[in-house]
Amino acid sequence: MFTAVCHHCLSIVVAVNMTVPNTLIRGTVGGEALLSVRYHSFSLDPPVIKWQLRREKSITVVQSIGTDIIGTLRPEYRDRILVFDNGTLLLHNLRLSDEGDYDVEISITDDTFPGEASITLTVDERISRPYIHMEASSLLELSENVILNCSHDNGTRTTYRWFKSGNPLANMTRFMLSPDQKLLTISRVLTTDDDIYICAVKNPVGNMTSQPLRVTVYRRSSVYIILSTGGIFLLITLVTVCNTARFYNHKYSNTKSSSCPVRTGHPPRTTLSRLYDHPDHTLMSRVGNVLLCKMVGTCLE
Ligand SMILES: *[C@@H]1O[C@H](CO)[C@@H](O)[C@H](O)[C@H]1NC(C)=O
Ligand SMILES: *[C@@H]1O[C@H](CO)[C@@H](O)[C@H](O)[C@H]1NC(C)=O
Ligand SMILES: *[C@@H]1O[C@H](CO)[C@@H](O)[C@H](O)[C@H]1NC(C)=O
Ligand SMILES: *[C@@H]1O[C@H](CO)[C@@H](O)[C@H](O)[C@H]1NC(C)=O
Ligand SMILES: *[C@@H]1O[C@H](CO)[C@@H](O)[C@H](O)[C@H]1NC(C)=O
Ligand SMILES: *[C@@H]1O[C@H](CO)[C@@H](O)[C@H](O)[C@H]1NC(C)=O
Repeated sequence: MFTAVCHHCLSIVVAVNMTVPNTLIRGTVGGEALLSVRYHSFSLDPPVIKWQLRREKSITVVQSIGTDIIGTLRPEYRDRILVFDNGTLLLHNLRLSDEGDYDVEISITDDTFPGEASITLTVDERISRPYIHMEASSLLELSENVILNCSHDNGTRTTYRWFKSGNPLANMTRFMLSPDQKLLTISRVLTTDDDIYICAVKNPVGNMTSQPLRVTVYRRSSVYIILSTGGIFLLITLVTVCNTARFYNHKYSNTKSSSCPVRTGHPPRTTLSRLYDHPDHTLMSRVGNVLLCKMVGTCLE
């Protein structure tokens, strides 16, 4: 603001000198905002202070002589407004609709020009705790695709970030972030993606992080792959060998170490069983028994 003007250098016209420490104030819904100004004048007369909210047609928020409010306040400002000696406006119980540009004008009778200033107020809602939503279960099969969705109930003007075991994730080939970064898509998951994921949400009045989400990536067992590609007959063979081996294992060692499910009755004898039908093969049968039972056990799970 100009403070002095030279009119043909005959006289000095003085305006109210205004100081605004902060032209941008960030408020929170339900909180308060101090639109702080200070003025300086050579006159000792009380100032007339007028605060307006810039809209298509400006709304007069408050008008006062010193700290005494003139007239009645608009219903939306009742019990929410205070004007200080220095011209500062305090707004209580902020609403989202309070956001905007505020113009203040301070006039003092003796001063030809009123002092003017503007302050921008933003109002944001506090962020509630975000949570990560996953379409499927958090148990993933190798090479599946997955979308992690960072959601929250409250919070305005939010921005998002993702962390994998504490490290920020960038938009990379297999880790793709939506333009607003709310969604994280992991393509063709690898075992290295088996990790802890967190989403962090930030807005002008705060930040919050989600509970960590554990994503588990499992690999189909190799036996399962053999079975699914090689055919079911392999399973039948394994079961048969397993049963035969248990029979011989029982016969020669009399131990209960077998991990095969216990069945009653004689196991079926097949040509394969002759493999073990020799005293020299006792050890081999035991090792084979345990091994085969483990494999069959895995694929039957
Ligand atoms: C306006 O006020 C500020 C401090 O309040 C002061 O530093 C400055 O000199 C004043 N300007 C004029 C022209 O009086
Ligand atoms: C004006 O007065 C208020 C209330 O005393 C104070 O909080 C604020 O900082 C003052 N503003 C300036 C610019 O000095
Ligand atoms: C969201 O805001 C509403 C209204 O302000 C409140 O009632 C609710 O409890 C908030 N939700 C959460 C999760 O904080
Ligand atoms: C993400 O979650 C939000 C809230 O739960 C939902 O409105 C939105 O549709 C979800 N987006 C996707 C792509 O799943
Ligand atoms: C990440 O990359 C994809 C594809 O290149 C793009 O569509 C998307 O907008 C990018 N996301 C961000 C947050 O830059
Ligand atoms: C999150 O908020 C805390 C205070 O609540 C602050 O100390 C921290 O720096 C903020 N972090 C970010 C990334 O803004």
